[in-house]
Amino acid sequence: MSKKVYIFDTTLRDGEQSPGASLNTHEKLEIAKQLERLGVDAIEAGFPIASKGDFQAVKTIAQNVRKPVIVALARAVKQDIDRAWEAIQYAAKPRIHTFIATSDIHMKHKLKMEPDEVLKRAVEMVSYAKSLCNDVEFSPEDGTRTRPEFLYKILEAVIGAGANVINIPDTVGYAMPDEFGALISGIKQNVRGIDNVILSVHCHNDLGLAVANSLAAIHNGAQQVECTVNGLGERAGNAAMEEIVMVLKTRSDFFGYYTDIVTEQIYRTSTMVSHLTGMHIQANKAIVGSNAFAHESGIHQHGMLSNRQTYEIMTPESIGLKQSQMVLGKHSGRHAFEERLKELGFSNLTQGEINEAFERFKDLADKKKYMMDKDIEALINEKVLKVPETYELEYFHISSGNTLVATSTVRVSNDNEVYEEAACGDGPVDATFKAIDRAVGVEAKLEDYYLRAVTSGKDALGEVTVKISKNGDVYIGRGLSTDVIEASAKAYINAINKMLLAQNGKNGKQI
Ligand code: KIV
Ligand code: ZN
Repeated sequence: MSKKVYIFDTTLRDGEQSPGASLNTHEKLEIAKQLERLGVDAIEAGFPIASKGDFQAVKTIAQNVRKPVIVALARAVKQDIDRAWEAIQYAAKPRIHTFIATSDIHMKHKLKMEPDEVLKRAVEMVSYAKSLCNDVEFSPEDGTRTRPEFLYKILEAVIGAGANVINIPDTVGYAMPDEFGALISGIKQNVRGIDNVILSVHCHNDLGLAVANSLAAIHNGAQQVECTVNGLGERAGNAAMEEIVMVLKTRSDFFGYYTDIVTEQIYRTSTMVSHLTGMHIQANKAIVGSNAFAHESGIHQHGMLSNRQTYEIMTPESIGLKQSQMVLGKHSGRHAFEERLKELGFSNLTQGEINEAFERFKDLADKKKYMMDKDIEALINEKVLKVPETYELEYFHISSGNTLVATSTVRVSNDNEVYEEAACGDGPVDATFKAIDRAVGVEAKLEDYYLRAVTSGKDALGEVTVKISKNGDVYIGRGLSTDVIEASAKAYINAINKMLLAQNGKNGKQI
């Protein structure tokens, strides 16, 4: 009989630690709701002691997302555990996840503690966490580089202190699959009480082995995997949720395990996370890359036409990538549009959001003959996931050419006020950004600018993602238009709006 593997998603905690992937509370809540629809068992919502923003996001998720276990991370330190509990106490199923490093190198150089002190602290903090919350997870950080005897000893002690989930992290992505499998099997054999708790693993991808290591652990008795959407995470990232889930599903003959993931929600979750974090997915990424189900060579196409299974081990439909039978255009009605939204996984939109999306769809269909699925997705993502807008682009005009200095005039509005400014720049995008800076009276550093065509064709929608930073904080903005300068201006204003929202909705003119 096949056994269940628990999916513990840490996109909002470890994933958000990816350089440049910053999310505000509103965006984290949207992702958490989508993770709930996806069917994950646990959501690690953040590290509440890290910042006020992290605390607020964890608390908001705990109050609003009821089905999965909501986990808050804490070092094995009393203040961290108190703050974690403060944030998750209202969750339907709260869990405190506490950790301390156990490898010689970490204990000596980072913690500057003796092994016995680490053991004592781990036990004290697990029992303290248990006094607040019934569900406590413990991680020996850098577990794969910890001496096995010490690892067994500390795990046995924290189980005695009340931990009910034991998580083994490959913190630096160092382990080899066989080695990691053997470590898990060693823990199963040598740690008293291990069969009464959930044994979990948490693998990083520094050597590209995070998914392989997680699977080796499952093969050797791990019941929970910690993973992230699109493999986001510190440095080279964490094990990719979609890969682990689809391996277990596609090769259930080999593993004999199942998950409760609604795999048809994978594609929607992946695009949402990529969109909101600004972390783009490489085309050949397994499962969710844009080429993952594309067949280019004639031989493959021929095989696919006679039997899809010749070259397809799983269907695009199984991850929620439905092949459209019908192309929408300006004559398409509301009913067809709503049906398409449902097929694309946007089943949770309010009637107001659908109406607004339909208006925008009609506007765009006037400029673009065929509306592809990706156009509709981009349209919804741009609007529905947007923060309240302090400033809006009213108008822009550019003058540019290879023998001219680019100049741009922009007009933006803020409630009932209108600001208009002009600037010169190194090309029309630079001039437009400078004019916006002047109009809104805010200065930020442009960290990254990324332009992509949503579909092919000369009338394709351009989607621009910008990252701006101020005082070390990064804000991601996105803009969509058939005109790339307009998309750039919208993206830049969107990033500024997020920055202003983070600064408690202050008006840019006062900064
Ligand atoms: O990689 C790691 O060790 C972690 C722990 C906090 C579980 O993220
Ligand atoms: Zn980690």
